[in-house]
Amino acid sequence: MDMDVTLLRNTLPEFGQEHLLDFWDDLSDEQRQALYTDLASLDLEDITRVFQNSMKSSENSQTKKDDRLEPFPEDMIAAVACTSDEQLDEWRSIGLELISEGKVAVLLLAGGQGTRLGVDYPKGMYSVDLPSGKTLYQLQAERIRKLEMLAENETEKRGKIVWYIMTSEHTGEKTEEFFSDHGYFGLNPKDVVTFEQGMRPCMTFDGKVILDEKWKIARAPDGNGGLYQAVAANGIVDDMKRRGIECMHIYCVDNILVKMADPVFIGYCHSKQADCGAKVVQKAFPTEAVGIVCKCDGKYQVVEYSEITIETAQKRNLDGRLTFNAGNICNHYLTVEFMESVIRENESKLKYHVAKKKIPYVDKSGKRISPDKPNGVKFEKFVFDVFEFASNFKLFEVLREDEFSPLKNGITAEKDTPTTARSALMSLHYRYILQAGGSFRDSGGQVLPLIPLRRSNSQSSFEVECEISPLLSYAGEGLAKIVRGNWYEPGHHFDVLVSPVKGNGHLPQPQKKKRKTDEQK
Ligand code: UD1
Repeated sequence: MDMDVTLLRNTLPEFGQEHLLDFWDDLSDEQRQALYTDLASLDLEDITRVFQNSMKSSENSQTKKDDRLEPFPEDMIAAVACTSDEQLDEWRSIGLELISEGKVAVLLLAGGQGTRLGVDYPKGMYSVDLPSGKTLYQLQAERIRKLEMLAENETEKRGKIVWYIMTSEHTGEKTEEFFSDHGYFGLNPKDVVTFEQGMRPCMTFDGKVILDEKWKIARAPDGNGGLYQAVAANGIVDDMKRRGIECMHIYCVDNILVKMADPVFIGYCHSKQADCGAKVVQKAFPTEAVGIVCKCDGKYQVVEYSEITIETAQKRNLDGRLTFNAGNICNHYLTVEFMESVIRENESKLKYHVAKKKIPYVDKSGKRISPDKPNGVKFEKFVFDVFEFASNFKLFEVLREDEFSPLKNGITAEKDTPTTARSALMSLHYRYILQAGGSFRDSGGQVLPLIPLRRSNSQSSFEVECEISPLLSYAGEGLAKIVRGNWYEPGHHFDVLVSPVKGNGHLPQPQKKKRKTDEQK
C-alpha cells in the first residue's frame, strides 16, 4: 500500500488521534507499513461517534431501570417442568423432523477472548479433565452427530445439521487448525463453516485510541452481537438459504451441558411460529450474575443484574418465585428470515455496550505497560439485543441442572470453573443412568448418592465418575437397554461409560455385575 503519511498527519488531529503517530520516527520500514495500514483502515468518524454515543448511554444506564421493567408475560413462556411428557414428545418429533429435512443449523459464538478463564487458546479447545479427555468442541461435535442419527432413526431421512462457528482474530486460526487436526471429529468439513467477526479499536476513557505496540492499535472483538455484521459480511444467510436451512440455534461456547439444536426447543419455537426465542433458567438467587429476559420500556430485552436495584432483584410473586426470574443462558432460536430482516433493517440500530477493561498499552516513553486496573474501554454489541425486533418472541424455561453449567473462570474461582462444569456433566450423566434403571454401588452394595460428595484430602470431588459419550446418548435416550438392572462399581477412574477420545465410541460393558448376596435378597 502506498503511504500518504502527510494525509494521516493532517486528518488524525481533527479527531484528536494525532498521538497514534508519536513513535513513527522510531519504527522500521516494516513497522511503519503495518501502522500505516492499521491507521488507514480506521473509520475515524465512526469511532468518534460510537465513542460519544456509547459513553453517553453507558452513563445513562447507571440510572437503574427498575421503574421501566415488567416481567416476561407468563403466557409466552413454556417451562419444561410444567409441560406434559406427551407435549414435550410432540415438540421433539417436530424438531427431529426439521433436522432430518436439513432445515436446522447450529451457530456457535466463539469469538470471545476467554480472559476470565485465563487460557491463551479458544475456550472450545479446553478440556475440563473428563475421563475421556474430550474438549468442549469435541463434545459439541459428537452431539451434532448423534442428533443427526436420532433424527434419521425417527424419520428415516438423513439431514445435515450445519455447524456455523463465529470466531475472531484471537480464535479463528487456532479453531480451524484444531478441527482439521482432529478430523472435524467425524463431521464433514463442508458442514463446519467458520467465519470471523469484526474487531473495534479500544479507547481510553477520554476517547483516545490505544496503541498496543508502537506500530499497532489495540483492538478487541466487537461483542457477540458482532454476529449480525459478520453474518452479512460473510454471506452466511445466502449459504444457509442455498442449503435449505430455515432456522438456527445460536449458543455460546462455554456451557458444557449445551443441547445443540435441541429438538424440543426447536420444535416448540417452530410450532408457535416464533421468529425468535430464547432458553432461560430460573435464577438461582436474586443477585446471580446472569442477564434477565424481561420487558423494558415495553420491549423485550435482557437486563443485567447491575442495571436494577437489589429490591427489584429480590422482588417475589405470591408463589414465592422471583418476579424477574428468567435467567438468560445464551441459547437462542432465530429463523433465517428473521436473521435476514435484522441484517437488512435493524443491525445499525444495535447499540454498543461499553466494557471497562485492563488494556495493555504503550506509554509516552514507548514502554509497553500491562495495567492492573481498568484503563480503557471496549465496545461490544450483544447478540440478544435483536429480541425487540421480533414479531413473535418466545421463551423456553429449562432445568438448570440439565442444561446450564458455564465455564467462565479459572480453577481457583468459586463458581463456573472447570471443576463445576465437570461435576455438572457427571451428575447429569449419573442421573441418566439412574433413570435408565442402572445404578452405582459401593463394594458393600450400597447405592451411591446422586449428588456428588465432596471428598476431603482429594483433588477429585466425585464418588462416581460417570461420563456418557454423546455418540451413545444425546440426552439420556437409548440407555435403558444397556444399563437396566446393572450395577456399576465406582473406581477412581471409573470409565465404564466413557468412549475413546477418538473414534466412534463403543457400547459400554458393565464393569462388574454383581450377584445379589443372600442378605440383599
Ligand atoms: C453471556 C450473556 C449473559 C448470560 C451468560 C450466561 C451476552 C452478551 N451475555 O454472558 O446474558 O447470562 O452468557 O452464561 O450474551 N463472544 C463472541 N464474541 C465476542 C464476545 C463474546 O463470540 O466478541 C462469545 C463468547 O465466545 C461466548 C459468548 O459469546 O461463547 C458469551 O460471551 P461472554 O462474554 O462470555 O458473555 P457472558 O458475560 O458470560
